[in-house]
Amino acid sequence: MSNENGMAPGQIIKVLIGVVVGLVVAIWLLAKLATGGYNVDAEVMTKEAVAARLKPVGESKASDAPPGMRNGEQVFKAICISCHGQGLAGSPKFGDAAAWGPRIAKGWDTLTQHALQGFNAMPAKGGAADLTDDEVKRAVAYMGNAGGAKFTEPPVGGAGAPADPAVVGKKIYETVCTNCHAAGVAGAPKFGDKAAWAERTKVGLDEVQKIATKGLNAMPPKGGFAGSDAEFRAAIEYMVNNSK
Ligand code: HEC
Ligand code: HEC
Repeated sequence: MSNENGMAPGQIIKVLIGVVVGLVVAIWLLAKLATGGYNVDAEVMTKEAVAARLKPVGESKASDAPPGMRNGEQVFKAICISCHGQGLAGSPKFGDAAAWGPRIAKGWDTLTQHALQGFNAMPAKGGAADLTDDEVKRAVAYMGNAGGAKFTEPPVGGAGAPADPAVVGKKIYETVCTNCHAAGVAGAPKFGDKAAWAERTKVGLDEVQKIATKGLNAMPPKGGFAGSDAEFRAAIEYMVNNSK
């Protein structure tokens, strides 16, 4: 039994199946190539590719904590996780005690130095140059401890150890308030000016905080500071206490 082409129906079906299978394989290959599926394997990822992948987090949007006051977990989750989360490019993977054991054995000083200055494919500060040295050290402690170490995280304001308001206040003053209050810009009570601050604080610090939170003439709400009320209060107290 055969048709005009001289092929049995069974043969035609085999040919058709062959064509369909061939098409599916070809499409799959094209899709793989188009999405770069052959290049993203962690093992063969180049330094450049890793860096490119990191770009968006490199400029650290590391949580809401003010600069300098992010704890180890916050820094890890904003920056270090992009490599250490999965052990990318040969980095010791978070929580992997076997991978971290030999690293921890190098000691705190070597590890923090490598994290700060870079080490082979490990970029300095994980590529986030705006992290403070202490923030990087906190992240080293956080990752190290998750891998079996007993490091002490350098203390911060925020989620970790209870913050020393004087330290927190000073930091915020130096990053935000100093822009106007150091020189007394636009009539701002100047840092260290006893008379000016005595006049302002007559109403009590709670009232002063209320006014400054809302903003007053050229003083923007909270002085433009985005952190918590407690931190803002610490900055006020820092200025007031240093102007007595
Ligand atoms: C771009 C990827 C990448 C990022 C982001 C990254 N690391 Fe690494 N890190 C590595 C790699 C790769 C190694 C392993 C280097 C080696 O041993 O050759 C490493 C190793 C380390 C080590 C061990 C160093 C040693 O002496 O053995 C520490 C500590 C470390 N990183 C801390 C950090 C901290 C803290 C952050 C975040 C602030 C961070 N890393 C972000 C890739 C990264
Ligand atoms: C853009 C400039 C600017 C910045 C930044 C700024 N301030 Fe002010 N601040 C002023 C000015 C101007 C005044 C005086 C406003 C007035 O009396 O007209 C003032 C007043 C104050 C007062 C007195 C409010 C009162 O009750 O009279 C406090 C407290 C204060 N600022 C706290 C802060 C703190 C804390 C920061 C940082 C987190 C900060 N400011 C950042 C400009 C600034």
